[in-house]
Amino acid sequence: MRFGVQEKKNGMMSGLTNGNRQLGVLGLGHVGLPTALGFAELGFSVLGTDSDSAKVQMIGRGQAPFYEPEMGELLRKHLASGRFRPVASLDETVRLADILFICVGTPHTEEGAADLSQVESAVRTVAGSLNGYKLIVEKSTAPVHTARWIQRTILRYHGDNQKFDIACNPEFLREGTAMHDVLHPDRVVVGVESARAKAWLEGVYRPLQCPILFTDLNTAEIIKHTANAFLSMKISFINMVSDLCEAADADVKDVARGIGLDPRIGPHFLQAGVGYGGFCFPKDLNAFVHVATECGVDFSLLKEVKNVNDARIDRVLRKVQKALWVLKDKRLAVWGLAFKPHTDDIREAPSLKIVKRLQEAGCLLSLYDPQAVDEFQKVFPADGERLRYCSSPEEAAAGAHAILLVTEWPEFAAIDWKRLRTRVALPLVVDGRNCLDPAGLEAAGFEYYGMGRPVCSPGS
Ligand code: UDX
Repeated sequence: MRFGVQEKKNGMMSGLTNGNRQLGVLGLGHVGLPTALGFAELGFSVLGTDSDSAKVQMIGRGQAPFYEPEMGELLRKHLASGRFRPVASLDETVRLADILFICVGTPHTEEGAADLSQVESAVRTVAGSLNGYKLIVEKSTAPVHTARWIQRTILRYHGDNQKFDIACNPEFLREGTAMHDVLHPDRVVVGVESARAKAWLEGVYRPLQCPILFTDLNTAEIIKHTANAFLSMKISFINMVSDLCEAADADVKDVARGIGLDPRIGPHFLQAGVGYGGFCFPKDLNAFVHVATECGVDFSLLKEVKNVNDARIDRVLRKVQKALWVLKDKRLAVWGLAFKPHTDDIREAPSLKIVKRLQEAGCLLSLYDPQAVDEFQKVFPADGERLRYCSSPEEAAAGAHAILLVTEWPEFAAIDWKRLRTRVALPLVVDGRNCLDPAGLEAAGFEYYGMGRPVCSPGS
């Protein structure tokens, strides 16, 4: 058993000591499903629902709707234990649950604002089904004042003065380590207004034995956006420095180490590369800038974070071009399509723009990813010799004029480069994540181009 929380805290199983409160999770996506299973693992009885009934059915059969390490195992465990029950009806979930966690999606609009239509729709259904006191918890990442709007919406659509409370409890889990993050968080943030809401959520999270920070609603909402914006800023900062390292013949990995040892800075989120992607950083940064602008506050610092990130795609493509000169009809092996390792998620993945640009430049592409191929194929269908999907990194590299590493899956660090040297057309590697060992590649006869690192080549 790898999850650990339940064993460690068996003596204080919250589901048994928290008045046997029934939890309901609305939205079974990348936040909702791991959250629901985490609660079940802690001993709660959890109902989960989603507007996509096919997804609810799939989950009910024990099939995870997306790849997330350890999640499938926990899903089957808690379907069997009966502590997690997928329910097709939102009304039923609302009627049966005491605490409702809203985990629906908050994508961004064309203008960069958060699209809160899924939140509103879920809340209106909640309002229509209230049958007693409920604690309604905003877990989806949403701009400041969303909790206020949830409150207002329930009052508007419910009509009478039925008692309910609103809380804001942002989720900080990362894709790829979601189950670990849910069960072992660094901290839990809870924005509340009533003593009852505070006590109930304290009861839910106490077993995790981590700091619980109680704030007001607006502050909790701003904490979540600030966390994601700060992490994005760290990444763009190191990417900016990486460009200087490249121009000045220095190594950004050592620069990151050199500053990361300072506890005021810390070593995390200082990996230079092709930039950040995923469903959270790009949209949350946009939404944060948007809400600041509406409040009349100058967030140009964060606009620049986005500009630096957008420019990473040009940067890496120029590097490929510098290594290969003419791109037309060159075969490129692209290693890694997911926006980060250990997920099949390609939303806002750098690979989407990179592959499109390489296609436009007339390259022949051999793509490999251990998890994300099915998703990627929906956007870029296979196209004979021009774009083909491969079942191993070696297969993708066969006959390639260059290998472009876009996502740092651990298996790429374990490649037998000497063997691979005999299969490629040209021994060129562009390491878009700085995760390979330049000296090892050089010894195997490869030219190595990292991001913000000196070029390594056998002849140099
Ligand atoms: C992020 C936050 O980390 C999490 O707390 C929040 O709840 C949701 O958003 P996630 O998007 O799942 O999580 O992944 P994360 O590990 O943060 O990586 C985001 C992107 O940044 C990825 O594309 C990753 O490759 C990139 N990244 C990360 C870098 O380019 N450099 C780094 O040093 C770290």
